[in-house]
Amino acid sequence: MKYLVALLMGFMFVGCGEDEGEPAEGDRSEQIAALSADATAGEATYTQVCAVCHGPDGTGTATGNSLVESNFTKSMIIDIIIEGQGDMASYASLPDQDIANVTAYVMLFQE
Ligand code: HEC
Repeated sequence: MKYLVALLMGFMFVGCGEDEGEPAEGDRSEQIAALSADATAGEATYTQVCAVCHGPDGTGTATGNSLVESNFTKSMIIDIIIEGQGDMASYASLPDQDIANVTAYVMLFQE
């Protein structure tokens, strides 16, 4: 059984190397980071989607931590939005531009 698992994992690694067709998660994150972002537009998305947990002013609630004291880079925030983290779900269904904008807005909270 161990050998079978090892064999399957070997195939998976080979498979990853050949995967050039569909854009990977990392590519999307890079594409979003390269967009020119509008923090003012991002405020609307933040208020609709994120404020319920992170609070209207980013200081957090019982269901989401404060974003004020965080020290995240742009690409880290984009990755968290796309992939989710811990109790936070993924918001990969948001359009790329909205993710770029809300990331710019969230970065304004940081001290
Ligand atoms: C359902 C509640 C909820 C919603 C909605 C939500 N978050 Fe979160 N978020 C969390 C929780 C809980 C964590 C902590 C996750 C962990 O590390 O366990 C978190 C972590 C984060 C972090 C990392 C902060 C840190 O200090 O670890 C960022 C950045 C973030 N969220 C941004 C957003 C943005 C932007 C949105 C809207 C697109 C959003 N969140 C929507 C609950 C939420």
